[in-house]
Amino acid sequence: MPCPPRSHELVFFVNGRKVIERNVDPEETLLAFLRKNLRLTGTKYACGRGGCGACTVMVSKNDPVSKKIRHFSVTACLVPICSLYGAAVTTVEGIGSIKTRLHPVQERIAKSHGTQCGFCTPGMVMSMYTLLRNHPQPSEEQLMEALGGNLCRCTGYRPILESGRTFCTESNGCQQKGTGKCCLDQGENASSSFGGKNDRMAENPEERTLTFRGERVTWISPGTLKDLLELKVKHPEAPLILGNTSLGPAMKTRGQFHPILLSPARISELTMVTKTSEGLTIGAGCSLAQLKDILAETVSELPEEKTQTYRALLKHLKSLAGPQIRNMASLGGHIISRHSYSDLNPILAVGGATLNLISAEGTRQIPLDECFLAGLASADLKPEEILESVHIPPSRKWEFVSAFRQAQCQQNALPHVNAGMRVLFKEGTDSIADLSIAYGGVGAATVSAQKSCQQLLGRRWNELMLDEACRLLLDEVSLPGSAPGGQVEFRRTLVVSFLFKFYLEVLQELKKLVKLFSAPDSQRHPDISDRFLSALEDFPVTVPQGVQTYQSVDPHQPPRDPVGRPIMHLSGLKHATGEAIFCDDIPMVDKELFMVLVTSSRAHAKIMSIDFSEALELPGVVDVITAKDIPGTNGAEDDKLLAVDEVLCVGQIVCAVAAETDIQARRAVEKIKITYEDLEPVIFTIQDAIKHNSFLCPEKKLEQGNIKEAFEKVDQIVEGEVHVGGQEHFYMETQRVLVIPKTEDKELDVFVSTQDPAHVQKTVSSTLNIPINRITCHVKRVGGGFGGKVGRPAVFGAIAAVGGVKTGRPIRLVLDREDDMLITGGRHPLFGKYKVGFMDNGRIKALDIECYINGGCTLDDSELVTEFLILKLENAYKIRNLRLRGRACMTNLPSNTAFRGFGFPQGTLVTESCITAVAAKCGLPPEKIREKNMYKTVDKTIYKQAFNPEPLIRCWNECLDKSSFHSRRIQVEEFNKKNYWKKKGIAIIPMKFSVGFAATSYHQAAALVHIYTDGSVLVTHGGNELGQGIHTKMLQVASRELKIPMSYMHICETSTATVPNTIATAASVGADVNGRAVQNACQILLKRLEPIIKKNPEGTWEDWIEAAFEQRISLSATGYFRGYKAFMDWDKGEGDPFPYYVYGAACSEVEIDCLTGAHKKIRTDIVMDACCSLNPAIDIGQIEGSFIQGMGLYTTEELKYSPEGVLHSRSPDEYKIPTITDVPEEFNVSLLPSSQTPLTIYSSKGLGESGMFLGSSVFFAIADAVAAVRTERDLADNFTVHSPATPAWVRMACADRFTEMIPRDDPKTFKPWSIPIA
Ligand SMILES: Cc1cc2nc3c(=O)[nH]c(=O)nc-3n(C[C@H](O)[C@H](O)[C@H](O)COP(=O)(O)OP(=O)(O)OC[C@H]3O[C@@H](n4cnc5c(N)ncnc54)[C@H](O)[C@@H]3O)c2cc1C
Ligand code: FES
Ligand code: FES
Repeated sequence: MPCPPRSHELVFFVNGRKVIERNVDPEETLLAFLRKNLRLTGTKYACGRGGCGACTVMVSKNDPVSKKIRHFSVTACLVPICSLYGAAVTTVEGIGSIKTRLHPVQERIAKSHGTQCGFCTPGMVMSMYTLLRNHPQPSEEQLMEALGGNLCRCTGYRPILESGRTFCTESNGCQQKGTGKCCLDQGENASSSFGGKNDRMAENPEERTLTFRGERVTWISPGTLKDLLELKVKHPEAPLILGNTSLGPAMKTRGQFHPILLSPARISELTMVTKTSEGLTIGAGCSLAQLKDILAETVSELPEEKTQTYRALLKHLKSLAGPQIRNMASLGGHIISRHSYSDLNPILAVGGATLNLISAEGTRQIPLDECFLAGLASADLKPEEILESVHIPPSRKWEFVSAFRQAQCQQNALPHVNAGMRVLFKEGTDSIADLSIAYGGVGAATVSAQKSCQQLLGRRWNELMLDEACRLLLDEVSLPGSAPGGQVEFRRTLVVSFLFKFYLEVLQELKKLVKLFSAPDSQRHPDISDRFLSALEDFPVTVPQGVQTYQSVDPHQPPRDPVGRPIMHLSGLKHATGEAIFCDDIPMVDKELFMVLVTSSRAHAKIMSIDFSEALELPGVVDVITAKDIPGTNGAEDDKLLAVDEVLCVGQIVCAVAAETDIQARRAVEKIKITYEDLEPVIFTIQDAIKHNSFLCPEKKLEQGNIKEAFEKVDQIVEGEVHVGGQEHFYMETQRVLVIPKTEDKELDVFVSTQDPAHVQKTVSSTLNIPINRITCHVKRVGGGFGGKVGRPAVFGAIAAVGGVKTGRPIRLVLDREDDMLITGGRHPLFGKYKVGFMDNGRIKALDIECYINGGCTLDDSELVTEFLILKLENAYKIRNLRLRGRACMTNLPSNTAFRGFGFPQGTLVTESCITAVAAKCGLPPEKIREKNMYKTVDKTIYKQAFNPEPLIRCWNECLDKSSFHSRRIQVEEFNKKNYWKKKGIAIIPMKFSVGFAATSYHQAAALVHIYTDGSVLVTHGGNELGQGIHTKMLQVASRELKIPMSYMHICETSTATVPNTIATAASVGADVNGRAVQNACQILLKRLEPIIKKNPEGTWEDWIEAAFEQRISLSATGYFRGYKAFMDWDKGEGDPFPYYVYGAACSEVEIDCLTGAHKKIRTDIVMDACCSLNPAIDIGQIEGSFIQGMGLYTTEELKYSPEGVLHSRSPDEYKIPTITDVPEEFNVSLLPSSQTPLTIYSSKGLGESGMFLGSSVFFAIADAVAAVRTERDLADNFTVHSPATPAWVRMACADRFTEMIPRDDPKTFKPWSIPIA
């Protein structure tokens, strides 16, 4: 029996270097190994679940069958290190470096402005690199597909795609060198571009069994099938581990544990493929990517009638997960996992696939049928059996197979419901000879509708059959109201909608065949009207196109002056090579401990006891930190850092474990026992909070005119409600901090990913009861913040600091994605009510809006968010009689906090929905109502701040013009007349966005500029680099002021030691205010240098600096900006709260599928007023990125809470931020021509947040399409506006005979899986 007692050496190659690991732990992933053991920190951790692509690397392996090397991208967070025996791994560091040579992929992504925070960039680079290794000149479609598994939260993807496009067949290359050629054509980097030094790998994988023994788990990798089967007899309970994409997440989050893992990766029999006339037999070890290639090849070789099942599988393989997962996941693993959402099992089941099983005893076949899928022991594998291969028969003449799936978004999202459907007709007829239908997503495993299918045998393929089939299916495939995943009515509707699609598809095909066979008249079918044919087409994945129009720089501006030019992000190249250091990339420090937080599992309860004795006994555990360990203050009275005797939400931090390693700390957390006694009331929803009068702060109100009187004089009044869901920041870099206590004077260094280091410093100080001056916070860069790293990092910094001081050791705290999403809160969900009075011509005379936001359990920023919400609610409209009220509800949910736009994106959706409702009542297009009620001349806002709306009108008109809005509106209407099941919608939205904080002190900023004796300049300022390019802009400012190139300058980090008492980098004004401070410092320095320059005007910068030093002139200066004047008097309802406004307009067009609720974004045009952009590339990046983030808020990002207040949506699987396929097919962004304002630095404007709201143009375009459906179907026009406009919302709003036929549950009879909290 080949099972040696000791552990073998693991040998593999990383970036061309041989790695020999003698004590490998099978539980270790490639990601952890790269980052910790090899110190290759370019590969990032962002989700640990294979769902984001931040950890993408390339693996190269010898294919045992083809004997060729296979290069494929993988997500390193799911790759067990032991699976790499003999393989070669290429990481971002292995392909290029700023120290040696850049790879063209790295160079181009940076130069195309495809990096902002840079946290996703190494993953993007590696996905593109792998693509190019396999296809040196890929098509644009291949490029899109390659990037489908990589998420970026900052850029909006367009520039990333642009950089990749330079490699495509259709492209002219990068054109970077100004020669009209591409850097690739010039021999540059030629040897390393696509080739091989990193491909070293074991030539002859050995046949002996390899065993790797870890502390808890043993990995056994046999070299032959015989050995594998013997091992399976010996260890029947041991799972086979292939891609680990099913086992891995289950072991991580569902606590599954397997002491022995059997890896069949080296068994060539499992990757064999045979094609015969009887069908395809595919080895169970083939990856889904290989399966896709095999099927594509087969489809191209065989006649169409034989390939129905293969085509259906191919269709789903295109949208199943991202390419990395498809490269890793095996066919066998997919089938055996029997996930309820499996995209392939329903098709394999209806396609009549059989499973070829093998064991030491011999072989046997079982059908992949309903019994197998239901996991019946009689139809399942025996413990000692394995799946060797899968046989998929070809389809026959008169047989049709189709696949359907609907997910939250098109790509890289688990399906809500999917289906495989097959029908066989008696030859020459439309009489059903055989029928199979299987659904995924409607039960614990794939469900086969066997009974219904049986009953339909012999029936003709017509409407009567369809009606009967729908009835039968809804009866057989019953989904209880409490089903996991929720959205039960939507999912029930999909069951019949898919059937209808199949019905129409088959009808079309039958007609062709019947014609061919000249069937008797009785068999002929009525033609499907062209209007109904639109039900058949799925939305294709298309490669976005677009134009970005920058402002031109004044031709008189000196060429060396970088202001206004599209300078690349300072860290762009380092992002692309993985050399940019983020908080957790800081090497381990001596004696460092890892901290993991323990959170409450109850929403409102008294803590009765905390028992961590068992945890303390575990190996490596050093301490457990509780509130009792805090030497100073434990946060605020109503917002504690660590819970004391009461918890207010699930996810509240109770205590923290410090251990030698992260794994030890995590294991200890599981052993901590907290007992609770539940308390009343427990409030989650806004409605409940209103009922219980549970509010965090007093109401905020603004009023003008006389509402009451105005309502009496209007022609019409409409009232409505709007629900806007919350939003998770989903910054790619989760919250992290490294605290290093120093040996002297209680000093402490805190390296932290934050937008507000001064707040972290202050909180650490008060928590430790140590003066602020002993604590230094350092922020090198932040992997995305979006408001989520304003307040929260202080909590993590303070808890880590307590641990650091108590243990006397450095503490590293890196939240995993689940904890980050659970603990940190996000954008406030909002419930709005409006009452609007208007004349028949659309003029709004009176408007009363009341908003409630769900603040969660503590105040945090909720009062400020309410204030901003109310201040911004009027958006671009002048309404004389206006009342705006807002309240923040206190609920037992994690506290919500700042988020890009700060209330504006949620609140203004209410205003714009109200406009849409007025339009509907007046029978006028919404854009007419918008235009009619928009500010037109110099005026005052509701809070009496004067402003000139001229740029708003310009943006609006230019957007109308650039988007050819009016002609497209007509085209949309034409399309809608011709299509019943697909509808288009178009919307244009104006925006007046106020920038800044409503208090002068919050606009102050400081900078410190040193000039060194070699002439180099170190710039420091109070802003933090979050990806928004603030450091790049600051050097542009310093370069203009000091009149020297940016190459002389450097920014090291933001530190509380160099610039004290800083304000959070937020509210879009970071570059404005810090720019003024940098300018001030530079002007002071230049003034000091003036006499020297005057004396030696021909001298160089270096000469002047040398002279200044000789003359003892200080070469260091502090710059200061006292802040814009801003105040608000809430008692009077008046003030000048904002320094200025940003104006814009966006027009979007979409197409919806009324049967599934899916939508396609056809085109978006944005026009923005940036005055004089400091850096148009960066500013366009901010606009595009925030627009896409806004689009996510309004269309796909949905928080799901259980009735017990537990956040379900805690990973990229469950919470869908936009992917590359969500970018509008045509996406144009332009800035208004430059204009001047004396207020801001060089007349620039802060554009960080405003674009977010423009994403609502997609929402209103969807709503427009839905309205077209409802008008056509004579449905009421007063349906409740609900954001996000998910497929579920769209489908159910497009009510039809299918939505009518589904069973509806009485809400009192079941407990739903999730509850709406807005
Ligand atoms: C981010 C992400 C997104 C995803 N998206 C989708 C999606 O959109 N649609 C979809 O359908 N799926 C999706 N999946 C699931 C994915 O398809 C499955 O996880 C995958 O196919 C399992 O294959 P594996 O090789 O990784 O299995 P493993 O995790 O290695 O193994 C899974 C199980 O299969 C057993 N097994 C494996 N091979 C054999 C064999 N030959 N004989 C007997 N038992 C065997 C193992 O014992 C184990 O219990 C996604 C997964 C991830 C991580
Ligand atoms: S996919 Fe690995 S970290 Fe997200
Ligand atoms: S640049 Fe892509 S996540 Fe920040």
